[in-house]
Amino acid sequence: MRQRLPFIFPEILPPEARFFCEKSPPPPVGARTARLFALLALLATLICTLAPAPLLAQSSVRPPGAAASFPDAPEPGPANTLGTRSDAEIWDMIRGGSPRDPGVIFAPTPEGALMTTTGQQWRVLRERYIRKYAGWAPLGVIVLLVLHHLIRGPMRLKEGRSGKTLPRFTLTARVAHWFMAVVFILLAISGLIILLGRPLIAPYLGREINAVLTSAAMQGHNLFGPLFILALLWMFVKFVAGNFFHPHDLKWIFRLGGLFGHHVSSRKFNFGEKTWFWMVMLVGAVIAASGVLMLFPWLTDDLRFLQLATVLHVLGAVLLISVALGHIYVGTIGMEGSLDSMLKGEVDENWAKEHHDIWYEQMTGKPARADEPEGEEAAP
Ligand code: HEM
Repeated sequence: MRQRLPFIFPEILPPEARFFCEKSPPPPVGARTARLFALLALLATLICTLAPAPLLAQSSVRPPGAAASFPDAPEPGPANTLGTRSDAEIWDMIRGGSPRDPGVIFAPTPEGALMTTTGQQWRVLRERYIRKYAGWAPLGVIVLLVLHHLIRGPMRLKEGRSGKTLPRFTLTARVAHWFMAVVFILLAISGLIILLGRPLIAPYLGREINAVLTSAAMQGHNLFGPLFILALLWMFVKFVAGNFFHPHDLKWIFRLGGLFGHHVSSRKFNFGEKTWFWMVMLVGAVIAASGVLMLFPWLTDDLRFLQLATVLHVLGAVLLISVALGHIYVGTIGMEGSLDSMLKGEVDENWAKEHHDIWYEQMTGKPARADEPEGEEAAP
């Protein structure tokens, strides 16, 4: 039978005696209650420490709306992560300084700049102005042309057709023109879908159809773009000869191209046609160059050139499309006998007399008007 020893200082007992000490009878009732309380206190501490803060923070009492609460931030100083600079100062450094200066768009990139700051201005210009208003220019031209056609009607040949023709354009010149016309029209349609699909197509035909159309337009635009450069060069070679400006063109300008009924003498190309030719060449060159930059963006490391490229590309294209509508009108239903030159390569003699009298005289050696002595206007 085991002898129970009183629980006093068990460590002073021999090991065999400690066995009895460990198996000593349960402590009295008071000590058990104290242990229970200690256990409960430990549990409560654990819950408070490990429970997620938001759970404990939830309360039905909320601070008033205007109350400002600040997180416990360490004192600013070199040893903490916030540092001694404000957010604005840090962003200014990343932008290379003075970023709020409006001239930053045109100024060279500041030394040490890690980011471009003109993106916001560019986005606003593109979304609020270009995308919103650019599409109206061609539409406005269409309205004006319809009104002109209804009110004044097409320009008819006063003496009708003579039945005799003069050669005007060679086959290669006509192929160059039609190559340009087809490529330009395909680019114009696909470009306008890319530009205006979201506000004009998506709300009516749905976003899915707009997505498919825009994606196809994008592929087509990228494909025909390089062909436009080829067309420009070809047109330049074939048409530049007759398109240099001449003092004679001043008469055309002063009489507004005969808009108010005066006859205006003209060589092979009148001032309006010459202006159209150089517009196609120069604005076309800007469109082509900006298009190449957008197709190969790594050609520049300054993002602002790309932003400028998108703006110039759209504005140039909208300008050319608008004027091209007027050109197409005059070349087809707006002026009797015009289209013959680009379809057959020949024009009626009466058309030549009425619209390009000096050229007629150069070609035939005969006066364009009956009251004119032979060869008078034909002098260069
Ligand atoms: C279906 C559309 C078009 C038609 C019916 C058309 C018609 C014509 C005609 C009839 C001429 C000859 C005018 C004359 O004999 O004096 C001409 C010339 C010309 N066309 Fe078109 N054209 C069209 C589209 C375009 C397009 C899209 C462009 C360029 C973007 C263009 C650029 C030119 C140029 C640069 C000339 C020569 C004018 C000059 O050298 O002064 N054409 N066109």
